[in-house]
Amino acid sequence: MSKLLIEGVSRTFAGVRGGEPVRALMPVDLAVAANDFITILGPSGCGKSTLLRIVAGLEAPSEGRVLLDGKAVTRPGPDRGMVFQSYTLFPWLTVAENIAFGLRERG
Ligand SMILES: Nc1ncnc2c1ncn2[C@@H]1O[C@H](COP(=O)(O)OP(=O)(O)OP(=O)(O)O)[C@@H](O)[C@H]1O
Ligand SMILES: [Mg+2]
Repeated sequence: MSKLLIEGVSRTFAGVRGGEPVRALMPVDLAVAANDFITILGPSGCGKSTLLRIVAGLEAPSEGRVLLDGKAVTRPGPDRGMVFQSYTLFPWLTVAENIAFGLRERG
């Protein structure tokens, strides 16, 4: 069984101020087995980060679904980690405190 299953996942963002909607990601199918190490390649703006954010549960797909160990992903969880493309540390915390943050939140 696939560890991670991405089935027909797409994302369209509503247009801002009456603008055209943005089709950020065309429907994607992908099956990832346990211990697979994969790379998603594509030109800037093709939807790579959008797909990763959907797998992380930070964004909902417009169509399709993501299954992790057979269970639908609906929100972020400790079973998935994501390193963001842009800077996301808490600048007022030390390096050690930044690392400890998620562990402390989980008790
Ligand atoms: N929240 C949003 N609202 C509207 N449009 C968005 C939003 N997020 C992403 N987009 C648009 O969706 C498309 C895909 O963006 P995405 O960031 O997923 O691309 P990417 O493949 O990660 O690009 P890069 O290689 O530059 O990181 C782009 O056209 C982007 O401008
Ligand atoms: Mg990106």
